[in-house]
Amino acid sequence: MRLLRAKNKNALAMTTKVIMTELKPARILAIETSCDETACAILENGRALLSSVVASQMEIHARYGGVFPEVASRQHVLSIMPVVQQTLAQAHLTLNDIDAIAVTQGPGLAGSLIVGLNMAKGMSLALGKPLVGVNHLEGHIYSSWVYEAGDTIPPEPQFPLLALLVSGGHTELNLMTDHLTYQRLGSTLDDAAGEAFDKVARLLELPYPGGPSIQREAEEGDASRFNFPRAWLDGTWNFSFSGVKTSVLYEVQALKKRGGGLPIHDLAASFQKAVVDVLFKKTMDAAREFGAREILVAGGVSANRVLRQAFKGQTEFPVHIPPLSLCTDNAAMIAAAGYFRYSLGYASTLEMDALPNWALS
Ligand code: KG4
Ligand code: ZN
Repeated sequence: MRLLRAKNKNALAMTTKVIMTELKPARILAIETSCDETACAILENGRALLSSVVASQMEIHARYGGVFPEVASRQHVLSIMPVVQQTLAQAHLTLNDIDAIAVTQGPGLAGSLIVGLNMAKGMSLALGKPLVGVNHLEGHIYSSWVYEAGDTIPPEPQFPLLALLVSGGHTELNLMTDHLTYQRLGSTLDDAAGEAFDKVARLLELPYPGGPSIQREAEEGDASRFNFPRAWLDGTWNFSFSGVKTSVLYEVQALKKRGGGLPIHDLAASFQKAVVDVLFKKTMDAAREFGAREILVAGGVSANRVLRQAFKGQTEFPVHIPPLSLCTDNAAMIAAAGYFRYSLGYASTLEMDALPNWALS
């Protein structure tokens, strides 16, 4: 995801004020348009999902091999109204049944964020309901506790909790000491993990988005065939994925020079293993170091089967990973984080602006 410069880093502080201090029953309608999904959801009490609609633009952007920002915002304009209407219809609710409107304020593409923000502001103004700006990354974290009717209810979070956030635009380790309280331990120095999947997929001529393509090709591959580098960056909690990406590029160039077809399955599996090894080990080490009671993995890359298996296969820490439907961008996660912000007293005003580079902590 290409991020633009934040217009006003202090906008959140200026538009947020504390209005109350306790969790309370509430039905939140949330809107998410930070990148290439137009999404809306309704959630009860921060966890129970009543309905969720995601209109994906994936097919449109696949033509360009990545997200085309101007096309994304135009598609959001076309989709937002029907997506909100469908979300209400699926829940058999009207806007009068909603207590507050949550919306992704950042980080993300400025032109895309503005479409969701304007829709949410219009609804808040017309209905006289509170408005809550939500950080997209915080949304990914809160996706772990959302459940649908009929699903097993995931346990409540136990703090301190070590959160690995792995998406197309971000890769970071956060220590969460309480609801809405984060200490960033480290982040990527170059490419995000999802971005590395997307770039390697492109050089292997696999379709966008790269993560699912690489995972699919890797199913039949030998992950030990190529020993791609792991950047441990010992002594820090940071990550780096540009080295492994370049190493795949050099391997592909050497293989092409030698002639014959590329062993796509083995290249994909070896690359995937190199990324997962680093994400898994650094998260486990950080959880031990900071005395975490649990681990949480969220963001688009948390959909990766090998990464999920690694975390689910260890028994040292309980692990929260969202269901597959909530790993990639959706609005249920924005409603979940929005609920905690709303019931702990945060409210945004109609002056709220998009924060394309908004950091979590
Ligand atoms: O969280 P997300 O939907 O959007 C951002 O906030 O960036 O994450 C999208 C990223 C993309 O880079 C995509 O390739 C990656 O998540 N992704 C995966 C998988 N599914 C999506 N990466 C690895 N394996 C997957 N199965
Ligand atoms: Zn995301």
